[in-house]
Amino acid sequence: MDSGPMTLIRSTEHFATWRSSILDQTISFVPTMGALHSGHVALIEYAKSQSDIVVVSVFVNALQFGDSVDFDKYPRTLETDYETSIAAGASIVFAPSALDMFPTDYKKYLTPSAIADKFEGASRPGHFAGVVTVVNRLFEIVTPQKAIFGAKDYQQIAVIRAMARELHPTIEILQVDTIRDLDGLALSSRNARLSQSARLKAKTIPDALFALRSEFDSGQTNCAVLKQTAFDVLKNETNISIEYLEVVDRQTLEELSVVELHSSVVLFAGIIDGIRLIDNVEL
Ligand code: PAJ
Repeated sequence: MDSGPMTLIRSTEHFATWRSSILDQTISFVPTMGALHSGHVALIEYAKSQSDIVVVSVFVNALQFGDSVDFDKYPRTLETDYETSIAAGASIVFAPSALDMFPTDYKKYLTPSAIADKFEGASRPGHFAGVVTVVNRLFEIVTPQKAIFGAKDYQQIAVIRAMARELHPTIEILQVDTIRDLDGLALSSRNARLSQSARLKAKTIPDALFALRSEFDSGQTNCAVLKQTAFDVLKNETNISIEYLEVVDRQTLEELSVVELHSSVVLFAGIIDGIRLIDNVEL
């Protein structure tokens, strides 16, 4: 790690020392769980365009995993994540230990807003409680002016916005569009776990969402009809089991029967060869 030890910070104490030395500069913050790919890089580059200093955190947050096997299997690649972050414009990579983030007497375990109850929250009980708890903790440590999140995790942004409105009203929450692979599949650290054949089949997910969107673009606004178009594409790939596919309001995530112009989004989750993938497109 040749940029010197000062730009990789491994403890909250060292972070606080560094933070108090740059009080006159603006900070954009990109929280991650590491295993960085081009989606994360786009967030870091955008953050760089927004402020003097970019802080990237790398912390695999056990609180947001329902299943300890999933947590254990999560890739940990701090050295390359560090290099990738610095190359993309980060000033500091903050990678604290679990005990430092959540000491045994930690008290601020948060409950997410009701927007967390559906979709990912229904499929993964406790997931968003873990997300808002860790993001709140990180916001308190980093105290950024801006924080950047990917549209890939659409509901996550809505849940974080609600938490931040209440607890961190001065932090501006910004969103970056989903970065996709050449065939359209949204980049995700989980894609690495797909077998070669599953990876080929996974393309059907963006195919279905884009087919739905182009039907909307040609004038169809009935959500049942639009959803059927996506289901028809997904039917071509019998190995995908659909968990949900819904047209919802971008803010409330309430299900819609007719598309609202510029304020609707299609949310999808499905499982392909045992790997759970999510995606979405705005309409
Ligand atoms: P992680 O999955 O590492 O994602 C970190 C950030 O990268 C999130 O804001 C996510 O939406 C964004 N991201 C992931 N894939 C993307 C893609 N293909 N295009 C654009 N952005 C993408 O999300 C988390 O970590 C955690 O829940 C976290 C917020 C760090 C809390 O632990």
